[in-house]
Amino acid sequence: MTHLFTPYTLGDVTLRNRIAVSPMCQYMAEDGMVNDWHHVHLGTLARGGAGLVVVEAAAVSPEGRITPGDVGIWRDDQAEALAPIARAITEAGSVPGIQIAHAGRKASANRPWEGDDHLPESDPRAWPTIAPSAVAFGGNLPRQPREMTIADIERVRQDFVSATIRARDAGFKWLMLHFAHGYLAQSFFSPFANQRTDAYGSSAENRARFLVETLRAVRAVWPENLPLSIRLGVVEFAGDDEAMFAEALTMLRVMKQEGLGFVDVSIGFNTPTAQIPWGPGFLGAIAGQVRRETGLPTATSWNAASAPQLADAMVRQEEVDVVMVGRPLLADPHWPYAAAKALGRQDAAWVLPPPYAHWLARYR
Ligand SMILES: Cc1cc2nc3c(=O)[nH]c(=O)nc-3n(C[C@H](O)[C@H](O)[C@H](O)COP(=O)(O)O)c2cc1C
Repeated sequence: MTHLFTPYTLGDVTLRNRIAVSPMCQYMAEDGMVNDWHHVHLGTLARGGAGLVVVEAAAVSPEGRITPGDVGIWRDDQAEALAPIARAITEAGSVPGIQIAHAGRKASANRPWEGDDHLPESDPRAWPTIAPSAVAFGGNLPRQPREMTIADIERVRQDFVSATIRARDAGFKWLMLHFAHGYLAQSFFSPFANQRTDAYGSSAENRARFLVETLRAVRAVWPENLPLSIRLGVVEFAGDDEAMFAEALTMLRVMKQEGLGFVDVSIGFNTPTAQIPWGPGFLGAIAGQVRRETGLPTATSWNAASAPQLADAMVRQEEVDVVMVGRPLLADPHWPYAAAKALGRQDAAWVLPPPYAHWLARYR
């Protein structure tokens, strides 16, 4: 039976187990450039034993950053700075992935621990935001974005393509398009954010257009043999979730035809009014339904790894192919080792690299 420590192959890529480091913004970059913080952070997580390490949301343009501290991939020198990280992840036995993103109306914000709200427009670090419609997110993010023109849509799509080429050339083997969490792509899909009446709004097919077109354009430059994934919010826990889920399934089937290989099932976060039923593994059943109904391999996160047994069960029950792990890895970068021990694996220490495993295998 397939379990958390069964290797996983997609295209030409094999993960040594089903544990993935979920993308986690550190907000520690300057001018979009990664630095020692990111090297140590990601290298440590790769050495911790995960099968896949997905580098945090890298902005496809300066305006697409969430905060001024976001990693960027809109210039060649930014990608060149990411290349040694991809190499370090590979040398640690993991697979280097990266998420590329545009924050849309949630851009131009403070770091979470410095307010998690929009930068005041008077702040010299602030910048104007864009979105499908001139509708603010609300709550802590009240800034009204500018409605994108067709030229803006084409430019951002091209930004995703250019970022993909840079990620490919920097040595990343797994691409994740950030189509979740109320950022630009997700907001095109959501009636909470998208009130357009042109070809990019109104009907579900039109609201999916920006996402499908971006995926298609990226597919053309991302190697056929490497995994192309998206993170998508398929439920909102606000508004008409049944309709949203059905629309998401339809869009995913279209995307599969266009070459999508994998979906990381997440939450819409398109409205501050959502009532999310946080609980251990609460997206597991939903990810399982996506998996069955689209035939796409899936992952999910959000308390999916609150206990190793839970993460393992999600894989065994065929709800997900891979478990995305976030905060448990901040608490313990060697979480895969801890999970292997908790699941009673005799060879648990060998989840870690030999300079650690050799000693831990003898240490009780
Ligand atoms: C510090 C931090 C930064 C995050 N940054 C991102 C990100 O860059 N992209 C993304 O899709 N999700 C991001 N998330 C969400 C995580 O990838 C993950 O989905 C979430 O933490 C739930 O998983 P967990 O319960 O295992 O922590 C972030 C979460 C945290 C805690």
